[in-house]
Amino acid sequence: MENEKKIIYSAMQPSGVPSLGNYLGALRNWKNLQNEYNCVYGIANMHALTVRQDPAALRKRTRDLVALFMALGIDHEKNILYVQSDVSAHAELAWILNCFTYMGELSRMTQFKDKSAKHADNINAGLFTYPVLMAGDILLYRADLVPVGEDQRQHLEISRDIAERFNNIYGDVFKVPDAYIAKVGARITGLQEPTKKMSKSESDNDNNVIFILDDLNLIANKIKRAVTDSEAEVRYDSINKPGVSNLLNIYSTIIGKTPEDSAVEFEGMGYGDFKKRVAEAVVEEIRPIQEKFKQISADKAFVDKVMKDGAEKAAYIANKTLRKVKKKVGYPN
Ligand code: TRP
Repeated sequence: MENEKKIIYSAMQPSGVPSLGNYLGALRNWKNLQNEYNCVYGIANMHALTVRQDPAALRKRTRDLVALFMALGIDHEKNILYVQSDVSAHAELAWILNCFTYMGELSRMTQFKDKSAKHADNINAGLFTYPVLMAGDILLYRADLVPVGEDQRQHLEISRDIAERFNNIYGDVFKVPDAYIAKVGARITGLQEPTKKMSKSESDNDNNVIFILDDLNLIANKIKRAVTDSEAEVRYDSINKPGVSNLLNIYSTIIGKTPEDSAVEFEGMGYGDFKKRVAEAVVEEIRPIQEKFKQISADKAFVDKVMKDGAEKAAYIANKTLRKVKKKVGYPN
């Protein structure tokens, strides 16, 4: 990687097809960051094991996510695109960092509390130490910046604490990462529950979430069925008009305007026509991604090669950091 550029690290779990919210809020930016930064993008399949997985399905979703990242325009040659479990340094560093992390601070993680409430039958130790594995991800690559959503902010904070604690004992080993605050990227809410994040777990209604590999007709239909309000005015007002405002957020993020500016386009228009325009914009945004995804994922040998090369590049950097850490803590080799 080139030297002067700052390093960005991010990862996503292969826990399902990303939603339109994941795409507009995060993934779309990942592509844009690659010009300004050296980016390391991981598929966090080790994190995914904290909930029960079907092995064949997990394997497929992991590969598909690699293909999807490329379909989204993430350049695998310019950046590092790799699968977490392919780089054993993650498991090795996680153990060491576990010994520098307190039960008390892990107990305060809101995601742990939420997830243990949701999976009361499987509150495993991995779920508890999940933020430690995540800290290792970031620290292994000496990331300067980590783009994180609201739900991962606390995990980034603990990563910084762990890094600083280690550095205080052993000297300047880790780079302490900062949050990358995206200049663009809206918070997209559910189409049926527009006051909550667009997420499968927020609603039982299949129309709440658009997945970026959904059939294009289905995508348009989900938008047509989106909850609005009893007025008939397209106006940006996220408190009083959360449904309409969410659709404006979706539309304006895609066309690169502010939601207030794009509302002007819809003045005097009924909700039916408004939704049609939003649906068209989303479909045209997603169509080329789906076409590319189909093409890339059909080429198994190519995806394998990308994973192999990515793992090699990632391991080269990760192992450098790991060697330093091992020496510091007193491993003989
Ligand atoms: N825990 C993150 C999530 O579920 C994924 C992740 C794993 C991650 N390691 C990371 C994100 C390191 C940022 C940096 O969204």
